[in-house]
Amino acid sequence: MPSEPITPGAMLLRGFVLPLGSAFAEAIDTIAGAAPFRHMTTPGGFTMSVAMTNCGPLGWVSDRTGYRYEPCDPVSGRPWPEMPAGFLALARAAAAEAGFADFDPDACLINRYQPGAKMSLHQDKDERDFSQPIVSVSLGLPAVFLFGGETRKDPTLRLPLEHGDVVVFGGAARLRYHGVMPLKPGQHPRLGACRINLTFRRAC
Ligand code: SIN
Ligand code: FE2
Repeated sequence: MPSEPITPGAMLLRGFVLPLGSAFAEAIDTIAGAAPFRHMTTPGGFTMSVAMTNCGPLGWVSDRTGYRYEPCDPVSGRPWPEMPAGFLALARAAAAEAGFADFDPDACLINRYQPGAKMSLHQDKDERDFSQPIVSVSLGLPAVFLFGGETRKDPTLRLPLEHGDVVVFGGAARLRYHGVMPLKPGQHPRLGACRINLTFRRAC
């Protein structure tokens, strides 16, 4: 598979998860059956346009009190669904391909974008250990990923991401600002009118 360096520490692995076929989509349906997608509230009181759920030992949550990782889904009070073994294997393989050996994620945030949904520029910094990378898998409709610098005002690269692409960022790129432009309407054969992003992290 072709891979494209983005900046030092960041790599785009085109089509990295395509060999898995629709296994991902089926696993996501199962997870969302147990822990449905929901629109979380930001500490500032806004409702996020992206709907989210999680799998794995820890899940990322946001509400009026802040951002954090929680072992249980606040909606059901139950532990987040298990991270499927195939997800873990894939995340580790992608990290290794990008030069990060021994990635050991304990959290997988699943983002669902419907047309118009976007993610504002932000840093992933709610994790304890920045030595481990972020592995971000794109499925479904294409989107434009924004990859910036270490301050919000730095210029951003615009990377078109398609079904099956994986972005890995760690090391010197671990705290780069990033975001997603508003999703354009469309229809994906397996995932329908949405984009799904899986973000693997070592949270704790
Ligand atoms: C995120 O930064 O959590 C999501 C990135 C993406 O959807 O590609
Ligand atoms: Fe992020």
